[in-house]
Amino acid sequence: MSSPMVISTIGNIKENFDNILSKSCLVKNFCRLALVSGLILFVAFVLFLNDPSCSSLKLSYTFQRPNTQFSSSSSSSLTLPNEEGLIDSPTNVSHLVFGLQSSEKTYHFRKAYVESWWKPNRTRGYVYLDTNPSGDLLPWSSKSPRYRINDDLSKLIEEINPISVLMPRMVHGIMELFREEHEGMRWLIMGDDDTMFFVDNLVDVLSKYDHRKYYYIGYPSEFVLPNHLFSFNQAFGGGGIILSYPLAKALVNDMDRCLRTYSNLSADLMIMACIADIGVNLTPNNGVHQNDLRGDYSGFLSSHPKELVLSIHHWDVLDPIFPSMNRFQSAQHLMKAGNVDQSRLFQQTICHHRQMNWTFSISWGYSAHIYEKIQRRSWLMSPIETFRGWRKSKQEPKFMFNTTRPFGDPCEAPHIFFFESIKKMSDTKEIHTIYARQGSRNLPSCGVSGNHSAEFVHKLHVLSSPNRRPEVDRAECCDVVRVAGTGEAEVRFRECKIDEIIA
Ligand SMILES: *[C@@H]1O[C@H](CO)[C@@H](O)[C@H](O)[C@H]1NC(C)=O
Ligand SMILES: *[C@@H]1O[C@H](CO)[C@@H](O)[C@H](O)[C@H]1NC(C)=O
Ligand SMILES: *[C@@H]1O[C@H](CO)[C@@H](O)[C@H](O)[C@H]1NC(C)=O
Ligand SMILES: *[C@@H]1O[C@H](CO)[C@@H](O)[C@H](O)[C@H]1NC(C)=O
Ligand SMILES: *[C@@H]1O[C@H](CO)[C@@H](O)[C@H](O)[C@H]1NC(C)=O
Ligand SMILES: *[C@@H]1O[C@H](CO)[C@@H](O)[C@H](O)[C@H]1NC(C)=O
Repeated sequence: MSSPMVISTIGNIKENFDNILSKSCLVKNFCRLALVSGLILFVAFVLFLNDPSCSSLKLSYTFQRPNTQFSSSSSSSLTLPNEEGLIDSPTNVSHLVFGLQSSEKTYHFRKAYVESWWKPNRTRGYVYLDTNPSGDLLPWSSKSPRYRINDDLSKLIEEINPISVLMPRMVHGIMELFREEHEGMRWLIMGDDDTMFFVDNLVDVLSKYDHRKYYYIGYPSEFVLPNHLFSFNQAFGGGGIILSYPLAKALVNDMDRCLRTYSNLSADLMIMACIADIGVNLTPNNGVHQNDLRGDYSGFLSSHPKELVLSIHHWDVLDPIFPSMNRFQSAQHLMKAGNVDQSRLFQQTICHHRQMNWTFSISWGYSAHIYEKIQRRSWLMSPIETFRGWRKSKQEPKFMFNTTRPFGDPCEAPHIFFFESIKKMSDTKEIHTIYARQGSRNLPSCGVSGNHSAEFVHKLHVLSSPNRRPEVDRAECCDVVRVAGTGEAEVRFRECKIDEIIA
């Protein structure tokens, strides 16, 4: 059975695959039972295997037993616990090594996403291709990670008969990355070529863990169905699979057994199963986003979980997150804020304007909402369901979190603003972000709150502290500093008061 990681890696094939799915679902109305859906998935998968565009993945056997090759690496002092059990130095970007699964076919148009977050000469890692790059990929861009061609596994594949040739390729990719680059490595991070990673936040989050212990970090899908079909306890590879050094090493040493024993599983599940046999379970982190979702993702990103954002997958499937821009521009635009203060990126900060009975909810660096009613944080933290699941499913619940559907209700539906620009105040050093109205809300004002229309507000200024806020124990609070008749409003972030209630 296919996993979302596979779906994501194979650009156009994925779309064919899904068309088959949705046609089957719509026409035959077969989607009632997950079992039946699973059958369709399987049938679609067989068709998908026969797709001639997959032929570029011809592999031939050169698989070797990995263990002897890597035993020498254990002499690296950084990666072994010392007597006192102390961490030798703070984790920084040089300790993270990325492996991005790509293909010659997809990297042409996905490289712009990778290059928006990749920091040349600072982030370590490789893009893995199936065949040599050609055309506009040459000469290879210095803003991209270096590339490697995946090992030829065709003989092994013949031997173990996996459900797809891609599955062993992805799992084996962990070994290929480890073999290539493990000097001083503390964390090995696998992702896709349409995954945006947030490196500053990864460093902050991972530095809280002891990298000399065994950690498998990631998150299930936001869409319930894939978790039901694969596992609720697996990290999904598109969102990212993060392994501490000792765990990566143990998995690499066990690679041969792993691929043979679990040859009939999808790649992400295979990794979970092999890691389980090592004795390690998933440490879930809600900042990792697999996003088996479609359409307008703004509702989710405007009520992001209160965790540092670590990744956003399916950049190439979801609508551009900024409605006035394409996907490349959206990635670059987002990183204007992300390069200044990743710790606040998408963090939802809420305050009220009592004279007007308005609520401001700001997803820093991304969007701002104004509600014409006093709304509580307990309600605002559930995303507005602007998006759909990966495919049609009658199975409820669809998502791994609560959603709201305020559409058409003037008291519940927000006025929506998107991030426009960022600058640093020269005097106070505060960070000034500006959010511009998306368009008219096309609703009357909220009667029960006194009919105070916010339709005239077209620009929102937000001031936040220059000090990053990597500890997300409690949300920040804010004050509405002014609402001018000219249609400009200003909000200033601050720490919440001890007794403050955001309601
Ligand atoms: C990261 O930490 C190592 C020590 O583990 C140090 O040698 C290196 O200079 C640091 N790199 C950066 C970019 O801070
Ligand atoms: C990375 O470093 C190399 C040499 O160390 C340099 O030639 C190259 O221009 C650098 N790339 C970028 C994008 O800064
Ligand atoms: C996969 O292999 C395991 C172990 O041999 C077996 O228990 C399981 O039923 C197989 N699953 C499928 C879908 O073939
Ligand atoms: C979450 O959704 C469930 C099911 O729709 C509902 O019963 C519950 O009240 C919701 N919780 C919140 C906090 O909205
Ligand atoms: C705010 O809304 C409440 C009802 O929710 C209403 O009683 C009150 O008059 C409103 N205040 C103003 C200033 O409109
Ligand atoms: C708000 O407007 C509606 C209709 O436009 C009206 O019926 C209602 O009395 C108004 N409420 C207030 C508090 O002005």
